Amino acid sequence: MARSSPLSSVSPHRQRQPTHVTMSEATMLVFILLPFLIASADPDDESCLSNLWRSFEDPSNSLRNWTKLTFSSPCNGFTSYLEGATCNNGRIYKLSLPGRFLRGSVSPFLSNCTNLQTLDLSSNFLMGPIPAELSSLLNLAVLNLSSNSLSGQIPPQLALCAYLNVIDLHSNQLSGPIPDQLGLLVRLSAFDVSYNRLSGPIPALLANRTGPAAGLPRFNASSFVGNKDLYGYPLPPVRGRGLSVLAIVGIGLGSGMLSLVLSFTAVCIWLKISEQNAATASGIMNGEDGKISHHMPDY
Ligand SMILES: *[C@@H]1O[C@H](CO)[C@@H](O)[C@H](O)[C@H]1NC(C)=O
Ligand SMILES: *[C@@H]1O[C@H](CO)[C@@H](O)[C@H](O)[C@H]1NC(C)=O
Ligand SMILES: *[C@@H]1O[C@H](CO)[C@@H](O)[C@H](O)[C@H]1NC(C)=O
Ligand SMILES: *[C@@H]1O[C@H](CO)[C@@H](O)[C@H](O)[C@H]1NC(C)=O
Ligand SMILES: *[C@@H]1O[C@H](CO)[C@@H](O)[C@H](O)[C@H]1NC(C)=O
Repeated sequence: MARSSPLSSVSPHRQRQPTHVTMSEATMLVFILLPFLIASADPDDESCLSNLWRSFEDPSNSLRNWTKLTFSSPCNGFTSYLEGATCNNGRIYKLSLPGRFLRGSVSPFLSNCTNLQTLDLSSNFLMGPIPAELSSLLNLAVLNLSSNSLSGQIPPQLALCAYLNVIDLHSNQLSGPIPDQLGLLVRLSAFDVSYNRLSGPIPALLANRTGPAAGLPRFNASSFVGNKDLYGYPLPPVRGRGLSVLAIVGIGLGSGMLSLVLSFTAVCIWLKISEQNAATASGIMNGEDGKISHHMPDY
C-alpha cells in the first residue's frame, strides 16, 4: 500500500506524463531503427542500381560484382557491397565509376538514388543525353560526366540541384547553349564545359562570378574553351567575330571618310571644271564678243 500510495496520489496531470514519455520513446526508437530498416532494402536505390547497370555495357567486366542480388540490399549501414558505390545510413550516397571502359548511356533511373551526393561517371565511353531526371537528385553536390561522348543539350533542370558544387562536363559532344539557370547555383565552385559543341553567349551570372581571389573571376576561360560557337567573357574575343565587329566599324568609318573625300574632290573638280568652263566660255564669249564687237564695226 505504501508503494502504491505515490501512484494513487498522482494528479491527472502527472498520470498523463508516462503516456507522453512512451510515445516519444517509441518515436525515438523508430528514428534509431529507421536506417537499419531501410538498410535491408530500399526500393528506390534498387530501381536506380538495376536500371543503371542495365544501361551500361561493361566490356572490361569491371562491375562484375554488380549482381541483381546486391541491388535489393546494396548497403549494410555504411558498407557498400557494390564496386564503386559508397553508402551512408543504408542508402547509396556516392557512385564513382571513372575510367572503367563503360559504354552505353546515363540512365534516367539514377534519379531514384535520391540520397546521391556524388555521381562520377567520367572518362568512360557513355553516349546519349544527360537525363533531365537528374534534377530530382536534390542532394547532388558533385556531377562529373567529363570525357565521355555525351550529346544533346545541358538540361536547364540541373539548376534544381541546389547543392551542386561541381559540374564537370568537359570533353563531350554537348551542343546548344549553357542554360542561364545554372548561374543560379550559388554553391558552384567548379564548372567545366570545355571541349564540347556548345554555342551562344556565356551566361553573365557564371561569367561575372568572383572567385576566392579578389578581382578574378571564379570560372576563367579554361572552363569554356574548345566550343567553336561559344562566346563572351571570360573567353577572349573570337578572332573572326572580333574582326567582323571591327570591320563593320572600319568599313562604316572608312566609307564615310572615303565618300567625304570623294565628294569633296568631286566638288573641287566640278568647281575647277565649271570655273575653267566659265573662263573658257567667257573667253570664247569675250573672243566672239570681241570678234563680233570687233567685226561689228566692220559691217
Ligand atoms: C564488390 O567489390 C567491393 C569493392 O571491391 C567490395 O567491397 C564488395 O564486398 C564486393 N561485393 C561482393 C558482393 O562481392
Ligand atoms: C525511378 O525513376 C524513373 C525515371 O525517372 C521514374 O519513372 C520512376 O517512377 C522512379 N521510381 C521507381 C520506383 O522506379
Ligand atoms: C572529373 O573526373 C576527372 C577524371 O575522370 C578528373 O580529372 C577531374 O578532375 C574531375 N573533375 C573535378 C571537377 O573534380
Ligand atoms: C552579373 O551579371 C548579372 C546579369 O547580367 C547582373 O545582374 C549582375 O549585376 C552582375 N554582377 C556583377 C558583380 O557584375
Ligand atoms: C583557371 O582556373 C583554374 C582553376 O579553376 C586554374 O587552375 C587555372 O590556373 C586558371 N587559369 C588562368 C589562366 O587563370
